[in-house]
Amino acid sequence: MRVLFIGDIVGRPGQDYVREVLPGLLRARRIDLVIANGENATNGRGINRLACEALYDAGVEIITLGNHTWDQKDTPALLEEDLRIVRPANFPEGTPGRGHTVCRVAGRPFLVINLMGRTFLSQLDCPFREVDRILGEHPDIRHILVDMHAETTSEKLAMGWHLDGRVSAVVGTHTHVPTSDERVLPNGTAYITDVGMVGPRNGILGMDRHRVIRKMRTQMPVKFEVASGARQFCAVEIELDDETGRATGIERIFLCETGE
Ligand SMILES: [Fe+2]
Ligand SMILES: [Fe+2]
Repeated sequence: MRVLFIGDIVGRPGQDYVREVLPGLLRARRIDLVIANGENATNGRGINRLACEALYDAGVEIITLGNHTWDQKDTPALLEEDLRIVRPANFPEGTPGRGHTVCRVAGRPFLVINLMGRTFLSQLDCPFREVDRILGEHPDIRHILVDMHAETTSEKLAMGWHLDGRVSAVVGTHTHVPTSDERVLPNGTAYITDVGMVGPRNGILGMDRHRVIRKMRTQMPVKFEVASGARQFCAVEIELDDETGRATGIERIFLCETGE
């Protein structure tokens, strides 16, 4: 079984690039399931219905989120009615939507869990206890991917090792910068600290760099906008054993356009 996980998709440039490159990747690599982090899909902040539909049309099947979950006003309703989109599971009890979802891939149940780290982010419930609880609820599912949306490398590595041998993959998102530490941990869990992003590559994390620099230099309020120009696509392909769910490989995929 082959799963493609696409890093944070930023704005319309990110959506468009996914639509352009995904069909070719799916054909060439015989992918069985496509999961993407969509927390920046609408103008770099959150995701609305329109962006969701655009990603589904492009071939994405499950969408994960992060700290930008509530930036668009129709997201709470969207999360309540659409089982294909998940927000971090360790949000406080009573939060709209769900933190994990089960789909079927090649006749088998596949569990997708979204978690968020707490270092330099909101002080949410403990992601380690929450993932243990969810796994306890699904003892029979062997094919499991966890999107660990977090700022620090240490918190993501800790989650990878915490879950080694208990899930098929732990992939990091949020920093928008891909790391080169992809590997299969000793007990069969594929791991990467950050997958990276899909969007304008000459901005800062996908946003217009001039505005970001102005804000940093002046400390004045500046409205950020998604950058334009050349784009990049960051994803990982994870290969899983059909029977056991153990990862047998993880490969980074990086595509980009040249020029400004
Ligand atoms: Fe992001
Ligand atoms: Fe984020």
